[in-house]
Amino acid sequence: MKSLLVVHHTPSPVTRECLEAVLKGARDPDIDGVEVKSIPALGATVPDVLAADGFLFGTSANFGYMSGALKHFFDTVYYPCLDAVAGRPYGLWVHGNNDTAGAVKSVQKIVTGLALTQVAEILELTGSLDASARERCYELGATVAVTLAEDA
Ligand SMILES: Cc1cc2nc3c(=O)[nH]c(=O)nc-3n(C[C@H](O)[C@H](O)[C@H](O)COP(=O)(O)O)c2cc1C
Repeated sequence: MKSLLVVHHTPSPVTRECLEAVLKGARDPDIDGVEVKSIPALGATVPDVLAADGFLFGTSANFGYMSGALKHFFDTVYYPCLDAVAGRPYGLWVHGNNDTAGAVKSVQKIVTGLALTQVAEILELTGSLDASARERCYELGATVAVTLAEDA
């Protein structure tokens, strides 16, 4: 069984919708052999990261950067997990009002340092979610989960 860790900052109903759609995709019943664990960024720990075979990160855009919560997560796990997680797959979604570029860049810099492997297109979302946006969230979750299932 592979373990997919979802680390997210979910501060509002819309971001909750993002998370739920991503989780639905990651837990698609047609994907076998992947256990999905979802933890808020302020609660995720070094053991959670070391035990995971792959990752999904989700955050709001805050002042042109990732949320403070996700940044705190990376600050906490970066050095203890460096080397141990190299090569493991990851996906990322960012939700904002109008400009998610800086938030995406801020996460990319850190996951590059951790040598994680991007396996799905980064999902940038703004405003309320329509059916197409929810579908893209679902696809993101499913893509990372399938990557792990295929590696089993
Ligand atoms: C302190 C703060 C800073 C923010 N900075 C950005 C930003 O730089 N870019 C952006 O697109 N949205 C920004 N936002 C909007 C949030 O990303 C947005 O509120 C969050 O994704 C939740 O979405 P919702 O308000 O539609 O529920 C900011 C919100 C707050 C509270």
